[in-house]
Amino acid sequence: LPTYVIAPSILSADFARLGEDVDRVLAAGADVVHFDVMDNHYVPNLTIGPMVCKALRDYGVTAPIDVHLMVKPVDSLIPQFAEAGASIISFHPEASEHIDRTLQLIKEHGCQAGLVFNPATNLSYLEHVIDKLDVILLMSVNPGFGGQSFIPHTLEKLRQARKLINESGRAIRLEVDGGVNVDNIAEIAQAGADMFVAGSAIFNQSDYQAVITQMRAQLGT
Ligand code: DX5
Ligand code: ZN
Repeated sequence: LPTYVIAPSILSADFARLGEDVDRVLAAGADVVHFDVMDNHYVPNLTIGPMVCKALRDYGVTAPIDVHLMVKPVDSLIPQFAEAGASIISFHPEASEHIDRTLQLIKEHGCQAGLVFNPATNLSYLEHVIDKLDVILLMSVNPGFGGQSFIPHTLEKLRQARKLINESGRAIRLEVDGGVNVDNIAEIAQAGADMFVAGSAIFNQSDYQAVITQMRAQLGT
């Protein structure tokens, strides 16, 4: 993967033509497919599950699929998503009874593991598990819906997380999710993020390539 990863959230894609829309966004220069799983329990919305992930693989999508689990409980879905072709599986610590066990489960199933922090979730969860993480995902909106505004306080949290990652000496991706667009992506990168989820900013435009090119220009790549 490149230094800066652009991960369009298919939450804002056309679900009636999902395969085509994912192909289009990858052809437009996206690196990763961000796949939002919501259960109407951990978050107040309902989306897609492992069957849709498998359908995308069967359709021929070969790009990494970044599964963002907003579900409670988490564990039973991990083997299913691994089998369905997930590359990265991330979950919220509040949704797991045993965070270390859940991380281990993701690894055992051959996927990369990520921990997700809501805007008000303390980064102190990292203290005991940072050595097991491939991705730290900071939510810059409250999870559940696309099209919300970036919460500015996330920038300070990104700086803290970047510092912890650097201190760990490990190659952990710092992913940001929510309200990312062409106008704020440079500032978000400056705060330490290197993986950018963007749903509405990309899929609500007709020319995906133009948006992704503008994002990369803002990132100086
Ligand atoms: C929100 C999801 C996000 C969302 C981002 O709960 O995790 O991935 O789709 O959408 P935008 O980029 O529109 O804020
Ligand atoms: Zn997400």
